Amino acid sequence: MDLVPANATTEILNLGAGTGLLTSLVRTRFPDASFHLIELSAAMLDKAKERFAGDQRATFEVGAYSVGTIRGRYHAVVSALSIHHLKDDAKRTLFETIRNILPPGGVFVNAEQVLGSTPALEKRYKREWLHKVKALGATEQ
Ligand SMILES: C[S@@+](CC[C@H](N)C(=O)[O-])C[C@H]1O[C@@H](n2cnc3c(N)ncnc32)[C@H](O)[C@@H]1O
Repeated sequence: MDLVPANATTEILNLGAGTGLLTSLVRTRFPDASFHLIELSAAMLDKAKERFAGDQRATFEVGAYSVGTIRGRYHAVVSALSIHHLKDDAKRTLFETIRNILPPGGVFVNAEQVLGSTPALEKRYKREWLHKVKALGATEQ
């Protein structure tokens, strides 16, 4: 992911941030950026607060990004495994909102589970996924 500027003024929004895992991964690439984490579950966000304890560049908001609560301007919007909770109409509205808060050249990254565009691709994705989770130590069960 390329961002301009990729420095201390860079603002990144994480939608459905959960415990802050994606933020921590993106932070390894943009260590000077500021992050705003929106998350529906206060309990999940508490874990993120623990993860970034004492870090002034991380701010937190309990709320639903799907009901028009997104404000501000960001250089990048990131999200992982969250937007699939929305119905397609709500996804479209959200994508419009994201487009409106990003400047020209801004970046939106949505890491998601998607259905393969053909049955053969779907089968291949499932095979790859199974291979990878087993390699990470998941049991057969
Ligand atoms: C599977 S978790 C992924 C968490 C995190 N993105 C990660 O990759 O570790 C999905 C998260 O999205 C949050 N979520 C789902 N819909 C949301 C919404 N409309 N607004 C805010 N958070 C939402 C859930 O509460 C949950 O914590």
